[in-house]
Amino acid sequence: MVGNWKMHGRIHDNATLLIEVAAGASALQKSVHVGVCVPCPYLAQSQALLSGSVVKWGIQDVSAHTGGAYTGEVAAEMAADFGVTYAIVGHSERRAYHRESPELVATKAQRALEAGLTPIVCVGESLEEREAGKTEQIIGTQLEAVLNVLTEEQAASIVVAYEPVWAIGTGKTARPGQAQDVHAFLRGKLQAKGASVANVPLLYGGSVKPENAEELFGQKDIDGGLIGGASLKSKDFLAICRAAQTVMLH
Ligand code: PGA
Repeated sequence: MVGNWKMHGRIHDNATLLIEVAAGASALQKSVHVGVCVPCPYLAQSQALLSGSVVKWGIQDVSAHTGGAYTGEVAAEMAADFGVTYAIVGHSERRAYHRESPELVATKAQRALEAGLTPIVCVGESLEEREAGKTEQIIGTQLEAVLNVLTEEQAASIVVAYEPVWAIGTGKTARPGQAQDVHAFLRGKLQAKGASVANVPLLYGGSVKPENAEELFGQKDIDGGLIGGASLKSKDFLAICRAAQTVMLH
Protein backbone atom coordinates (compact mmCIF):
# COMPACT_ATOMS: atom_id res chain seq x y z
CA MET A 1 0.00 0.00 0.00
CA VAL A 2 1.66 3.18 -1.10
CA GLY A 3 0.42 6.67 -0.33
CA ASN A 4 1.04 9.36 -2.94
CA TRP A 5 0.79 12.68 -1.15
CA LYS A 6 1.25 14.63 -4.40
CA MET A 7 1.89 18.34 -3.66
CA HIS A 8 0.24 18.27 -0.26
CA GLY A 9 1.59 18.57 3.25
CA ARG A 10 3.25 21.07 5.54
CA ILE A 11 5.94 20.20 8.02
CA HIS A 12 3.76 20.40 11.11
CA ASP A 13 0.83 18.37 9.77
CA ASN A 14 3.18 15.84 8.18
CA ALA A 15 4.64 14.94 11.55
CA THR A 16 1.23 13.98 12.91
CA LEU A 17 0.34 12.04 9.78
CA LEU A 18 3.66 10.15 9.61
CA ILE A 19 3.60 9.25 13.29
CA GLU A 20 -0.01 8.05 13.12
CA VAL A 21 0.62 5.98 9.98
CA ALA A 22 3.73 4.40 11.52
CA ALA A 23 1.83 3.55 14.70
CA GLY A 24 -1.15 2.08 12.83
CA ALA A 25 1.01 0.15 10.37
CA SER A 26 2.92 -1.52 13.19
CA ALA A 27 -0.25 -3.44 14.03
CA LEU A 28 -0.49 -4.92 10.51
CA GLN A 29 0.83 -8.29 9.41
CA LYS A 30 4.41 -8.05 8.16
CA SER A 31 3.28 -9.22 4.75
CA VAL A 32 1.42 -5.93 4.23
CA HIS A 33 4.07 -3.51 2.95
CA VAL A 34 3.33 0.17 3.55
CA GLY A 35 4.99 3.23 2.04
CA VAL A 36 4.40 6.94 1.60
CA CYS A 37 5.69 9.05 -1.28
CA VAL A 38 6.14 12.58 -0.03
CA PRO A 39 7.20 15.87 -1.65
CA CYS A 40 11.02 16.14 -1.84
CA PRO A 41 11.48 18.76 0.89
CA TYR A 42 9.97 16.34 3.37
CA LEU A 43 12.19 13.33 2.64
CA ALA A 44 14.46 14.22 5.56
CA GLN A 45 11.46 14.57 7.86
CA SER A 46 10.12 11.21 6.67
CA GLN A 47 13.49 9.60 7.26
CA ALA A 48 13.69 11.07 10.76
CA LEU A 49 10.18 10.00 11.75
CA LEU A 50 9.86 6.67 9.93
CA SER A 51 13.32 5.11 10.41
CA GLY A 52 12.92 2.02 12.51
CA SER A 53 9.18 1.79 11.72
CA VAL A 54 7.62 -0.64 9.24
CA VAL A 55 6.70 2.23 6.89
CA LYS A 56 9.02 3.00 3.96
CA TRP A 57 9.15 6.39 2.29
CA GLY A 58 9.50 7.40 -1.32
CA ILE A 59 9.85 10.19 -3.84
CA GLN A 60 7.21 11.08 -6.46
CA ASP A 61 9.54 11.49 -9.44
CA VAL A 62 13.26 11.37 -10.23
CA SER A 63 15.36 13.04 -12.89
CA ALA A 64 16.37 11.10 -15.99
CA HIS A 65 19.89 12.45 -15.37
CA THR A 66 22.38 11.49 -12.71
CA GLY A 67 23.55 15.05 -12.06
CA GLY A 68 24.54 18.29 -13.74
CA ALA A 69 23.00 21.52 -14.96
CA TYR A 70 19.33 20.57 -14.59
CA THR A 71 17.83 23.31 -12.44
CA GLY A 72 15.02 22.11 -10.24
CA GLU A 73 15.54 18.40 -10.83
CA VAL A 74 16.32 15.79 -8.20
CA ALA A 75 18.55 12.80 -8.98
CA ALA A 76 17.61 9.34 -7.75
CA GLU A 77 20.99 9.17 -5.96
CA MET A 78 20.02 12.27 -3.97
CA ALA A 79 16.82 10.62 -2.83
CA ALA A 80 18.86 7.55 -1.88
CA ASP A 81 20.86 9.77 0.49
CA PHE A 82 17.64 10.09 2.50
CA GLY A 83 17.00 6.38 2.81
CA VAL A 84 14.28 6.37 0.17
CA THR A 85 12.84 3.00 -0.92
CA TYR A 86 10.30 3.92 -3.62
CA ALA A 87 10.33 6.26 -6.60
CA ILE A 88 7.09 6.85 -8.49
CA VAL A 89 7.84 7.32 -12.18
CA GLY A 90 5.45 8.17 -14.99
CA HIS A 91 2.53 9.30 -12.87
CA SER A 92 -0.18 10.50 -15.25
CA GLU A 93 0.15 14.02 -13.83
CA ARG A 94 3.82 14.03 -14.88
CA ARG A 95 2.97 12.57 -18.28
CA ALA A 96 0.22 15.15 -18.85
CA TYR A 97 1.64 18.34 -17.30
CA HIS A 98 5.32 17.74 -18.01
CA ARG A 99 4.94 15.91 -21.31
CA GLU A 100 6.86 12.89 -20.12
CA SER A 101 7.10 10.33 -22.92
CA PRO A 102 7.13 6.55 -22.38
CA GLU A 103 10.87 6.60 -23.23
CA LEU A 104 11.63 9.30 -20.67
CA VAL A 105 9.70 7.39 -18.02
CA ALA A 106 11.73 4.29 -18.91
CA THR A 107 14.98 6.20 -18.39
CA LYS A 108 13.72 7.43 -15.03
CA ALA A 109 12.94 3.86 -14.00
CA GLN A 110 16.51 2.91 -14.93
CA ARG A 111 17.97 5.80 -12.90
CA ALA A 112 15.87 4.77 -9.90
CA LEU A 113 17.04 1.15 -10.10
CA GLU A 114 20.68 2.18 -10.48
CA ALA A 115 20.35 4.21 -7.28
CA GLY A 116 18.91 1.22 -5.44
CA LEU A 117 15.34 2.52 -5.40
CA THR A 118 12.23 0.55 -6.37
CA PRO A 119 10.47 2.35 -9.23
CA ILE A 120 6.70 2.36 -9.09
CA VAL A 121 5.92 2.64 -12.78
CA CYS A 122 2.49 4.18 -13.36
CA VAL A 123 0.47 3.43 -16.46
CA GLY A 124 -3.05 4.49 -17.36
CA GLU A 125 -5.40 5.58 -20.12
CA SER A 126 -7.56 8.69 -20.39
CA LEU A 127 -11.34 8.48 -20.67
CA GLU A 128 -11.10 9.37 -24.34
CA GLU A 129 -8.63 6.56 -24.94
CA ARG A 130 -10.79 4.08 -23.04
CA GLU A 131 -13.89 5.04 -24.99
CA ALA A 132 -11.96 4.67 -28.24
CA GLY A 133 -11.06 1.10 -27.20
CA LYS A 134 -7.38 1.98 -26.89
CA THR A 135 -6.77 1.06 -23.25
CA GLU A 136 -4.53 -1.94 -23.94
CA GLN A 137 -2.67 -0.18 -26.71
CA ILE A 138 -1.87 2.81 -24.48
CA ILE A 139 -0.88 1.01 -21.32
CA GLY A 140 0.89 -1.70 -23.33
CA THR A 141 3.06 0.97 -24.96
CA GLN A 142 3.73 2.63 -21.60
CA LEU A 143 4.79 -0.62 -19.90
CA GLU A 144 6.74 -2.01 -22.83
CA ALA A 145 8.87 1.15 -23.08
CA VAL A 146 10.07 0.42 -19.55
CA LEU A 147 10.46 -3.34 -19.93
CA ASN A 148 12.43 -2.85 -23.16
CA VAL A 149 15.27 -1.01 -21.42
CA LEU A 150 15.50 -3.25 -18.35
CA THR A 151 17.19 -6.61 -17.91
CA GLU A 152 14.95 -9.41 -16.68
CA GLU A 153 16.52 -9.11 -13.24
CA GLN A 154 15.83 -5.37 -13.11
CA ALA A 155 12.29 -5.83 -14.38
CA ALA A 156 11.64 -8.34 -11.61
CA SER A 157 12.32 -5.66 -9.01
CA ILE A 158 9.93 -2.95 -10.16
CA VAL A 159 6.36 -2.25 -9.05
CA VAL A 160 3.67 -1.36 -11.60
CA ALA A 161 0.63 0.77 -10.82
CA TYR A 162 -2.42 0.89 -13.06
CA GLU A 163 -4.13 4.21 -12.63
CA PRO A 164 -6.90 5.02 -15.10
CA VAL A 165 -6.57 8.78 -15.57
CA TRP A 166 -10.34 9.19 -15.43
CA ALA A 167 -10.42 7.66 -11.95
CA ILE A 168 -7.69 9.80 -10.35
CA GLY A 169 -9.01 12.31 -7.85
CA THR A 170 -12.45 12.18 -9.48
CA GLY A 171 -14.24 9.92 -7.04
CA LYS A 172 -14.87 7.55 -9.98
CA THR A 173 -13.25 4.22 -9.34
CA ALA A 174 -12.81 1.59 -11.99
CA ARG A 175 -15.21 -1.27 -11.35
CA PRO A 176 -13.24 -4.10 -9.73
CA GLY A 177 -13.78 -6.32 -12.77
CA GLN A 178 -12.73 -3.54 -15.10
CA ALA A 179 -9.51 -3.00 -13.13
CA GLN A 180 -8.88 -6.76 -12.98
CA ASP A 181 -9.13 -7.06 -16.78
CA VAL A 182 -6.39 -4.46 -17.20
CA HIS A 183 -4.26 -6.02 -14.46
CA ALA A 184 -4.53 -9.42 -16.15
CA PHE A 185 -3.36 -7.80 -19.38
CA LEU A 186 -0.41 -6.18 -17.56
CA ARG A 187 0.42 -9.50 -15.87
CA GLY A 188 0.64 -11.09 -19.30
CA LYS A 189 3.09 -8.43 -20.48
CA LEU A 190 5.24 -8.95 -17.39
CA GLN A 191 5.15 -12.70 -17.82
CA ALA A 192 6.35 -12.33 -21.39
CA LYS A 193 9.46 -10.55 -20.09
CA GLY A 194 10.39 -13.56 -17.97
CA ALA A 195 9.11 -15.97 -15.35
CA SER A 196 10.62 -13.94 -12.50
CA VAL A 197 8.89 -10.78 -13.74
CA ALA A 198 5.43 -12.32 -13.57
CA ASN A 199 5.24 -11.73 -9.82
CA VAL A 200 5.92 -8.00 -9.93
CA PRO A 201 3.40 -6.32 -7.59
CA LEU A 202 0.56 -4.71 -9.53
CA LEU A 203 -1.08 -1.81 -7.72
CA TYR A 204 -4.39 -0.21 -8.59
CA GLY A 205 -4.80 3.54 -8.12
CA GLY A 206 -7.63 5.97 -8.65
CA SER A 207 -10.09 7.02 -5.96
CA VAL A 208 -9.36 4.07 -3.67
CA LYS A 209 -11.24 4.61 -0.41
CA PRO A 210 -11.90 2.51 2.70
CA GLU A 211 -15.33 1.67 1.23
CA ASN A 212 -14.13 0.21 -2.06
CA ALA A 213 -10.68 -1.10 -1.07
CA GLU A 214 -11.62 -4.63 -0.10
CA GLU A 215 -13.45 -5.39 -3.31
CA LEU A 216 -10.64 -3.99 -5.43
CA PHE A 217 -7.89 -5.81 -3.57
CA GLY A 218 -9.93 -8.99 -3.71
CA GLN A 219 -9.28 -9.21 -7.46
CA LYS A 220 -6.84 -11.88 -8.54
CA ASP A 221 -4.20 -9.64 -10.12
CA ILE A 222 -4.54 -6.59 -7.85
CA ASP A 223 -1.75 -6.84 -5.30
CA GLY A 224 -2.09 -3.46 -3.66
CA GLY A 225 -2.95 0.18 -4.10
CA LEU A 226 -1.45 3.55 -4.90
CA ILE A 227 -3.50 5.89 -2.78
CA GLY A 228 -3.73 9.64 -3.41
CA GLY A 229 -6.33 11.69 -1.55
CA ALA A 230 -7.12 9.05 1.05
CA SER A 231 -3.44 8.77 2.05
CA LEU A 232 -3.59 12.27 3.52
CA LYS A 233 -5.79 11.09 6.37
CA SER A 234 -4.19 8.47 8.60
CA LYS A 235 -7.57 6.99 9.50
CA ASP A 236 -8.53 6.39 5.88
CA PHE A 237 -5.09 5.24 4.76
CA LEU A 238 -4.85 2.75 7.62
CA ALA A 239 -8.38 1.50 6.96
CA ILE A 240 -7.33 0.83 3.36
CA CYS A 241 -4.21 -1.02 4.60
CA ARG A 242 -6.38 -3.13 6.88
CA ALA A 243 -8.72 -3.92 3.99
CA ALA A 244 -5.72 -5.26 2.08
CA GLN A 245 -4.77 -7.35 5.08
CA THR A 246 -8.30 -8.76 5.38
CA VAL A 247 -8.21 -9.83 1.74
CA MET A 248 -4.77 -11.43 2.16
CA LEU A 249 -5.89 -13.42 5.17
CA HIS A 250 -8.78 -14.97 3.26
P1 PGA B 1 -6.46 9.40 -5.89
O1 PGA B 1 -5.00 9.48 -6.60
O2 PGA B 1 -6.43 8.24 -4.93
O3 PGA B 1 -6.61 10.73 -5.18
O4 PGA B 1 -7.45 9.22 -6.97
C1 PGA B 1 -4.28 8.34 -6.93
C2 PGA B 1 -2.99 8.74 -7.61
O5 PGA B 1 -3.00 9.63 -8.46
O6 PGA B 1 -1.91 8.17 -7.31
